[in-house]
Order: sequence, then C-alpha cells, then structure tokens
Amino acid sequence: MINMENFPKASKYWYMGKFYDWSELIIHPMSHGLHYGTIVFEGIRAYPTSKGTAVFRLPEHTNRFFYSAGVAKMVPPYDAAKVNDVIKQVVRENKLASCYIRPLFFYSYGNLGLVPKASPVEFLCSAWEWGAYLGENAGAGTSVYILPTRRIHHTQVDMKAKLGGLYMLSTIGGLEARAQGCDEALFLNIEGRVAEGPGENIFIVKNGVVKTNDRSESILEGITRTSILEIAADMGIKTAVGPITKADFLAADEAFFTGTAVEIIPVVKVIDGSDPKAGRREYTLGTGQAGALTAKLRARFFEAITGKVPRFKKWLTYVND
Ligand SMILES: Cc1ncc(COP(=O)(O)O)c(C=O)c1O
Repeated sequence: MINMENFPKASKYWYMGKFYDWSELIIHPMSHGLHYGTIVFEGIRAYPTSKGTAVFRLPEHTNRFFYSAGVAKMVPPYDAAKVNDVIKQVVRENKLASCYIRPLFFYSYGNLGLVPKASPVEFLCSAWEWGAYLGENAGAGTSVYILPTRRIHHTQVDMKAKLGGLYMLSTIGGLEARAQGCDEALFLNIEGRVAEGPGENIFIVKNGVVKTNDRSESILEGITRTSILEIAADMGIKTAVGPITKADFLAADEAFFTGTAVEIIPVVKVIDGSDPKAGRREYTLGTGQAGALTAKLRARFFEAITGKVPRFKKWLTYVND
C-alpha cells in the first residue's frame, strides 16, 4: 500500500487523457524529467466558498505554466483551455473542498541525452489537501536562516519561469535552514540584498509601509505577492516596491513570507549565516511576535480567497462552473 501520509484526501491523478488511482504507478523510470529535472510546474490552491470550491487565480497560474514551458522549449501536449479544464476536473474528481493543485509538464520517456530530442512532453495533474506548508504553528511566527549561498541571478535564467531542476537550489537551502534549527531559508542575491525564500516572496513592514522587492532583485514575482500588494493598497495601506537590504530586513518592524504554498506567514526570528567568516548571528525581528499589519493583511487575504470580498471575487474560478 502506498504511503498517503503527506497526501491527504488524494485519490486520483490525471495523466495524458485519463484518471489513475493514486496508487497506480505508470511513469517510466527512464523518463528524462526524472533524471535531469527537465520539468516545469505550477503550485495552485483552491478554497471553499459559498459557491463551492474555487481555484485562486487560475488564469494567472496557467499563463505562468505555459510561459515556463516556453522557457524550457517544450511543446505542450494540450492548450491552456484544456489544462484549466483538467485542473477543475481533478479537484472535482478528488472531492476536495480545499486543496493544493500540482500541474506538471515533463520531458518523458524516449532518450537520455541532455537534449530530449526523442522525449515527448507529457502532462500530469494531481491535487491533495495540503495544510499549513510550514506547520500548524507557523501563523504565530517563523524563524529564517539567511543562507551563505546566493540566489541564482536573473541574468543567468529567466526567473519568471518555474523550472523544476532549479528547485534543487531551494531544496538544498531548505534542508540547510532546518539543519540550522530554522523553519525556512532566505536567499540573498548576488548583490548581497534580500532576494526571496526557496518558494516564497518576502515583505517587510517599516513605519506603516509594506514593502517587497521585484524581479530586478533575482526573485520570482509570485502571484500571492501581486495579490497582497493589491489587497494592501485596497485597504489604504501604503506599499512600496524596491530593493531590500539585509540591514532593512533586520531593522524591519514586521516581515512576512508570501506564496501559494505558504500563503502569508510572519517571520519573527532570523539567524544570519550569510557570512561564514562572521559566524552565526541571531536576531529578533520587530517585537518577536506576528505583527499587527501582517495579521490584518493575512485576515483580509483569507477573506479574499474564500470569496468573502466582492471586489476580489474576480480572482476565483469555481470548479463546478
Ligand atoms: C522561488 C519562488 N518564489 C516565490 C514564490 C511565490 O509565488 P506564488 O505566490 O505565485 O506561489 C514561489 C512559488 O511559486 C517560488 O517558487
């Protein structure tokens, strides 16, 4: 029996035209994507609303999915309309009220040269109930480890794309942060300023202004990040977009991560390991507790994603429509 511990409520996945039972394993071990990480993916969430389950910002995720496929020089087997339809079907088929959805294009079976000339691109989509990405207590505040290794630079790769193999850097960073006793990692960029988490964007709050960085700082400009900037502006909270130095970060009144998996999570403690010569330095961020503006934005975000804010219903795609 396959271990379902980290995939609650998943019963079927969709692969190249049909549903399979979760326990049916049908992808060949010599698939190109398995060997080189030659895959592109999305991470999407769906939430319960009064009109049934709704996918949050589905068109934006699907656009990014196809953009990533383009960067990976893939010829996808389906168009965006079909992918959207499959995503909705997967949520319905698994009877999920609230879930994480993982569509994936990958170079499949055919050859193992680095150029996948005989390996067609295939499509897979699954969904399961994925609760709090950094654990049930993360809402009260998390600790971050500032890594000694820098984020890959935006001049080296198109950072708008979610390219599977590159996430090895996130995996290594995430493992390192946990080995250092922290909940999550934080990358500086090559310039030495704050970039992003392994799968999250970062915001700071200083003197009532909510600030984040942009792609010129070597980050993936996340869909949650864009939503938070819009929600904050709508609430009359001042926002700013620009570089965040490490000193800005450490002196912030509040800080929080955003991302589809993590949603919005306060950062309250920092271990700076960015300069191995200087050793490990520990800091408390702000008061050491989840900040008031972070809490307000978090509450509004949860109202928006569950369809309780009329002007943000534009972000919802109902799976039963
Ligand atoms: C590297 C990286 N940065 C930021 C994010 C946050 O993006 P989003 O809010 O679109 O999930 C993600 C997750 O997709 C990510 O992988």
